Amino acid sequence: MFSPFYRSLYAFGIIPVVEIDDLNRAEVLAGTLIEAGLPLVEITLRTPVAVKAIQRIRETHPKILLGAGTILTLEQARQSVSAGADFLVSPGLPLDALEWALGEGIPFLPGAVTPHEILQGLRMGIEVFKFFPAETMGGVAAIKAISDPFPSIRFIPTGGIQTDNLAAYLTHERVLAVGGSWLAKRQWITSGQFDQIKAQVKAALRLVQSLSRPPLT
Ligand code: 3PG
Repeated sequence: MFSPFYRSLYAFGIIPVVEIDDLNRAEVLAGTLIEAGLPLVEITLRTPVAVKAIQRIRETHPKILLGAGTILTLEQARQSVSAGADFLVSPGLPLDALEWALGEGIPFLPGAVTPHEILQGLRMGIEVFKFFPAETMGGVAAIKAISDPFPSIRFIPTGGIQTDNLAAYLTHERVLAVGGSWLAKRQWITSGQFDQIKAQVKAALRLVQSLSRPPLT
């Protein structure tokens, strides 16, 4: 059984993966996503202000489902949770960070693209994995092939997902949700094109709702 956190991700279907260069854009970005109908964001720890951006969003939008992405170390995991992150995401399996988060009851989406990595995560109790970089690793066909030996797991593919391939991923029975930067592009945030972000998110949500997706059992 998947917990309410995973059920929320399934219901939204899409996770904006965001890079914030200017701290002053964080609050308006979060507000824009909420106005578009998507109270969910993953802030990647790829810019110097990322942890501060998480904190700013937590303070200004207490109810948004807030993730910290690109977690590579235990220290980054701790800092992100202290700043207000509800969940953590990594491109790989940072074992110390993963163990700590599981001990604290904090949802963690680690990256796995090989049977070995999936098995390692499964043994720690992980059932939902980020699949990154999805398109480069073989896309939906790769997800299908790698899922066969592991009937319980689900994937959140990211990397190369956009409006035109969203449906193919989301209608696959092993895909819980997808993530990507196409929803709130870095240059749109930097240049203040929040109307563009709102339109992109609304269009993607409409597409998600129009799909006939396998239920999350
Ligand atoms: C991620 O960290 O999930 C990816 O960088 C998102 O990939 P995209 O920019 O191709 O959407």
